[in-house]
Amino acid sequence: MIRPGKFITLEGGEGVGKSTNLAVIESYLAENDVEYIVTREPGGTHLAEKIRDLILDNHDEPMDAATELLLVFAARAQHLNTKIRPAIAKGKWVLCDRFTDATYAYQGAGRELGERFISALEDLVQGELRPDLTVILDLEPATGLNRASQRGALDRIEQEQIDFFHRVRSCYLEIAAANPQRCALIDASKPLLAVRDQLLETLEQRLRIFLDER
Ligand code: TMP
Repeated sequence: MIRPGKFITLEGGEGVGKSTNLAVIESYLAENDVEYIVTREPGGTHLAEKIRDLILDNHDEPMDAATELLLVFAARAQHLNTKIRPAIAKGKWVLCDRFTDATYAYQGAGRELGERFISALEDLVQGELRPDLTVILDLEPATGLNRASQRGALDRIEQEQIDFFHRVRSCYLEIAAANPQRCALIDASKPLLAVRDQLLETLEQRLRIFLDER
């Protein structure tokens, strides 16, 4: 019987260094001979990427917060059922750039929709599925937004006011504190190499047990 793959998610506010640290996790998995796929949310499949564009593009009418929440979960249902679940069932590990914690942080806290509806949609779309490990990169929002703006034009969500991103950050910190078994919080304000070392140490602590049971 094939042992199901593990599900790892990477989270954090804007400009926290997700791409760099995603590459660190990838190299750790490759060094440990893990068969894995890398994917992202919103998006990850052809259809879900179209929904991503709807979520992130600027439109000539304001997007209602509930519309945004439902689009995020529409993309997630598609991604989960056509890509993530099949990969896990085949024994592949899935490394996903953002997942439902981002919905609690951005739509729940940022848009102030609260947890109740998100929790209901999470149950509907995911059933029992939750990440095995979530790495949360933490950085002061002004620093992150400054980095993000240097990368080019800001998308619809990145154009939000700074208070929005303070709520996002607080929510991620609350999620990390409330779920210490699943979540590892990394201080992303440190120099790149220090963040990398902290991340590698975390991966070794949290994933060794899964790697050894293969
Ligand atoms: P990124 O993948 O480049 O970080 O951009 C994705 C954006 O989408 C980011 O601003 C966070 C936002 N987002 C949500 O608002 N809710 C979600 O559930 C997810 C996964 C992302």
